[in-house]
Amino acid sequence: MSHYPTIRHRRLRRDEFSRRLVRENVLTCNDLIQPLFVFEGSGDFESIPTMPGVQRIGESVIVEKIGHLKSLQIPAVALFPVVPEKHKTFGAEAAWNPEGLIPRVVRSIRQAYPDYGIITDVALDPYTTHGQDGLIDDTGYVMNDETLDALVLQALTHASAGAQMIAPSDMMDGRIGAIRNALELNGYTNTRILAYAVKYASAFFNPFREAVGSAKGLGSSNKTSYQIDPANTNEALREVELDLAEGADIVMVKPGMPYLDVIQRVKKQFKVPVFAYQVSGEYSMLAAASDNGWLDRKAVVIEALVGFKRAGADAILTYFAEEVAEWIQDKKFLP
Ligand code: PBG
Repeated sequence: MSHYPTIRHRRLRRDEFSRRLVRENVLTCNDLIQPLFVFEGSGDFESIPTMPGVQRIGESVIVEKIGHLKSLQIPAVALFPVVPEKHKTFGAEAAWNPEGLIPRVVRSIRQAYPDYGIITDVALDPYTTHGQDGLIDDTGYVMNDETLDALVLQALTHASAGAQMIAPSDMMDGRIGAIRNALELNGYTNTRILAYAVKYASAFFNPFREAVGSAKGLGSSNKTSYQIDPANTNEALREVELDLAEGADIVMVKPGMPYLDVIQRVKKQFKVPVFAYQVSGEYSMLAAASDNGWLDRKAVVIEALVGFKRAGADAILTYFAEEVAEWIQDKKFLP
């Protein structure tokens, strides 16, 4: 038997006021993390052809940029280094140089804005000549346990420079435990670990690889021997379980939009903080279609980001963060 017309769902949708009152999920500035590509030297901004509207930022202007993001109420940034070819090596040694780009930038941000949230990426790909996230053997296979030692050095370097949150994105087994242990032993007991627990071997990362300059080294190789098969979810849950047991404070699902089911399952099962990464390819799709006049930029960006909240994400790494925060501040979008 139908309950219509006693129940009419359209009543609540009739007016703006009642739509607002029954809205189940909201997006606020508290949900946003801005990923930033940083390059060394005296330059200021460089455009990224594969990510129209996103710029690489020179280390000399990064503090100014952070000041702006802070004024927009964005709680944190995730830093990614653009490493010049001359600093890349087979063994990624520049990844744990205390005078390297990331430690320098972290120190200057902490000095100017001591409380601002800084998340650093732990993985070797920006620093290796071959573009892999780990150390490789002579067949090109990424070696797990040998890589852990390098990741620990990198994580300690970031923590000692002042990063309050480090984010291993490399997908080696056991890295959360190894890093957590090293942080504890070295007195960094409050350094948070944001684990890229569920990182798929995705084709949506390509614009990022162009942005940081790891695409060339990687060439026609791929990361399928360590990143998760996009067809799998149970395996993703096992990754989350292990990372939490090893000491992760927050787990991340990446990419975002094609994997909303995974965000939902992780949140439901583990009830821990879950972040989503709306990755470079997701940015580029929405940006390109909007630039062509095929999609309404503001509308699709908000819809996509609210979708992450609905799925269960607590916060979202998104290249749209600054723009969205400006919309919120200019009241062009009512959270
Ligand atoms: C590498 C890393 C990648 C991203 C973040 N860290 C790419 C990769 O695994 O090749 C992708 C982010 C994006 O696409 O926006 N450790």
